[in-house]
Amino acid sequence: MRTHYCGQLRAEHVGQTVTLFGWVDRRRDHGGVIFVDLRDRTGIAQIVSDPERTPDSYDAADGLRNEYVVKIVGRVTKRPPESLNPRIPTGEVEIYADQIELLNAVRKQLPFQVSTADAEPVREDLRLKYRYLDLRRERMSRNLQLRHQIVKTIRRYLEDQQGFIEVETPMLTRSTPEGARDYLVPSRVNPGEFFALPQSPQLFKQLLMVSGFDRYYQIARCFRDEDLRADRQPEFTQLDMEMSFMGQDEILALNESLVCHIFQQIKGIELPRPFPRLTYAEAMDRYGSDKPDTRYGLELVEVSDLMKDSGFKVFSGAVASGGIVKVLPIPGGNDAISNVRIKPGGDLFNEATSMGAKGLAYIRVRQDGEIDTIGAIKDNLPEAQKQELLRRTGAQPGHLLLFGAGDAPTVNKTLDRLRQVVARELNLIDPEKINLLWVVEFPMFEWNADEKRLEALHHPFTAPFPEDAHDLKTARAQAYDLVFNGFEIGGGSLRIYQPEVQQKVFETIGLGEEEARQKFGFLLDAFEYGTPPHGGIAYGLDRLVMLLAGEESIRDAIAFPKTQQARCLLTNAPSEVDAKQLKELHIATTNRPKALEASR
Ligand code: AMO
Repeated sequence: MRTHYCGQLRAEHVGQTVTLFGWVDRRRDHGGVIFVDLRDRTGIAQIVSDPERTPDSYDAADGLRNEYVVKIVGRVTKRPPESLNPRIPTGEVEIYADQIELLNAVRKQLPFQVSTADAEPVREDLRLKYRYLDLRRERMSRNLQLRHQIVKTIRRYLEDQQGFIEVETPMLTRSTPEGARDYLVPSRVNPGEFFALPQSPQLFKQLLMVSGFDRYYQIARCFRDEDLRADRQPEFTQLDMEMSFMGQDEILALNESLVCHIFQQIKGIELPRPFPRLTYAEAMDRYGSDKPDTRYGLELVEVSDLMKDSGFKVFSGAVASGGIVKVLPIPGGNDAISNVRIKPGGDLFNEATSMGAKGLAYIRVRQDGEIDTIGAIKDNLPEAQKQELLRRTGAQPGHLLLFGAGDAPTVNKTLDRLRQVVARELNLIDPEKINLLWVVEFPMFEWNADEKRLEALHHPFTAPFPEDAHDLKTARAQAYDLVFNGFEIGGGSLRIYQPEVQQKVFETIGLGEEEARQKFGFLLDAFEYGTPPHGGIAYGLDRLVMLLAGEESIRDAIAFPKTQQARCLLTNAPSEVDAKQLKELHIATTNRPKALEASR
């Protein structure tokens, strides 16, 4: 039996005989004395074998190679002063091996070095293909253990201190309205019919409120077939919660206490409470984003009124057609950012156009206060307006002002992007800082230009503010997002629990009565049987782990993630299936293998 994990051994264990199991991180031969770094998931211990002090283990030690699996029985000894290793927690001790038993060897060449002693960067596709080896490495092992600690902390807090109970909801279900594409599962026994994997447990958790489980939570797997980014996965995990008989302030307060508890337990950090709140309108106005990173300034300034009559057609035209003009003022930007980068073909210009901007106008305030800009602005902006522009944007000598002009969503998207790029480049982000804030008062709906209709910004079960309910089209929703250093880590809302209001919301998004019944009839029916006022929230657990682990990719917070192409490189899923299997499922594919297509 194992007596200790490798990473647990300390000076206090000196003199004890211990039994360890693990993998050979590396083996070094120092003139007849063999040193083996033995690794398990807790860390590394140094094993020593030499022909004089440990003759019984010497031959076995000599035959060990990287990643062999071994059992070691040995005596914990204090290291001599010259070989103390303060870089690892076990660095004061070493274990003289009385017995080494080889449990299994490595039979193939390792695709990469597992030992972090050789800190070679490994390509991500290799890491994902041989994920079981990657997970042996210190970084991923630490991240998964952190994930476990976070989940354990959440469960203990919600269950033991707040009276929540966990209820599992189905994976094989109907489509849920989170707005992404569904992953579908064909039903063999119901020909031509499909289950959808849940995009979230939204509908079931509301039904659980109808059933009286007034404090529900679940660590819930969700599936969304959407375009992937560094912080998105097709299959991800939510901490999902729903509560009855609580208003928005109470829900937010309870969630702040949960988040503070997590930070305190996991990071030893006491976060100040209450968390700041920004309305959606203010967040968009000041940052151009509903998930602003508020660790740095660089706030946007709207100047539409100043530009509406300017002779610079790009600006006045934008305002005339219902758009806006906004400025990103960058202190020190005049020196730091060259014209080459802002003009067509430059990297900042490209960032702007990738967000839909048609160009990138600018004004430089030289050190002597002289203004320099593209001619069209200079020639067409009267002195009074120019002075007002400088006053409003707080422009000082050395400032660079970048402009966005056009429809509001594009302008905001563009300047938000530039704000982030510039902040990173000018080192304005303090990595130690933790900024958590609520964004509240989202609009109920946004315009879907493709389908030419309003659609629910959050989901169609979100309740409007009662005082706005007379005109749902412009109403604010009782919805909230939690933003952590510019990442949306959670979002939720109070729900509609009166059928009349629900009916109106469906009408507003153009969902006819019949279609609504067909899609959500079971929910609408349930709401007729005594539904408590309720609301909830869901956190992106993988994102939270990513941020707390200091990682930049969500894949580093998940044991077996998918690539950006939504593939699992380890199992090589998705894959084709047998014709027989398809037939049983009553499925025919319209996809033709490329080779076949070419031969036609
Ligand atoms: P929402 O869609 O905002 O709300 O999702 C909640 C949180 O889940 C995380 N998230 C993701 N994480 C990784 N990959 C993805 N593809 C992904 N999509 C979302 C985000 C997000 O804040 N049912 C509602 C919640 C509610 O109203 O209670 C919902 O799912 O961190």
